[in-house]
Amino acid sequence: MRSIVTGGTGFIGSNLADTLAQHHDVVIIDNLATGRRENIEHLLDHPRVTFIEGSITDLDLLKETFPGADGIFHQAAIPSVPRSASIEVNMDGTVSVLVAAKDCGVPAVVAASSSSVYGDTPVLPKHEGMAPNPLSPYAVTKFADECYGKVFSDLYGIRTVFQHDQTVLECRGAVWISLRKVLHISSFPDCRGRGRKRRVTAG
Ligand SMILES: NC(=O)c1ccc[n+]([C@@H]2O[C@H](COP(=O)([O-])OP(=O)(O)OC[C@H]3O[C@@H](n4cnc5c(N)ncnc54)[C@H](O)[C@@H]3O)[C@@H](O)[C@H]2O)c1
Repeated sequence: MRSIVTGGTGFIGSNLADTLAQHHDVVIIDNLATGRRENIEHLLDHPRVTFIEGSITDLDLLKETFPGADGIFHQAAIPSVPRSASIEVNMDGTVSVLVAAKDCGVPAVVAASSSSVYGDTPVLPKHEGMAPNPLSPYAVTKFADECYGKVFSDLYGIRTVFQHDQTVLECRGAVWISLRKVLHISSFPDCRGRGRKRRVTAG
């Protein structure tokens, strides 16, 4: 199997690349906008892993890279809500990923959307039966991505899945301790994975 991970030097993408590399050939595409090379340092010599420094807005690059792929894990985005000006990356970039997948015959795209598409509803946990109500430019880009994904699925038969991640955190003591302080919780939240990655958010 050959998998592509966009945003693969980022927090979620690099964890994904780690796991995929155990069984698949993995190509990571990332322009290091917010990701860090050190997140994949240990993968750079891995025989199954290739790192391409480039942008998902570069359709020619995507079309050179996607042939032969069995699936795309599309994580690249400008993720911060306040810095959400990025229609170019979050929307145009996602459409480029879908176009290149179609043109290169890639059968499946799994993409990161966000629970922010549901707006500020107090209902928890959020679920797919809820009406979308994006309240930030970032959420609008993610909801538009989902609409494009459905259209590409309906028109071209690409299987598309959009994740509604909500506040993915690392499992390090400092994070949980500060969370406990802020939320006044007495026990630790459910913690999946080994928490080896560190997240640094600039904005
Ligand atoms: N972390 C969360 O809590 C959370 C919650 C909901 C949704 N998401 C979504 O999950 C995905 C991954 O989030 P993350 O937390 O790992 O963020 P991150 O910033 O760590 O990773 C995003 C990656 O995308 C890369 N990138 C940005 N623009 C690019 C471009 N033009 N071309 C190629 N690569 C580009 C960045 O360099 C970075 O490595 C994003 O799509 C985000 O919107 C994350």
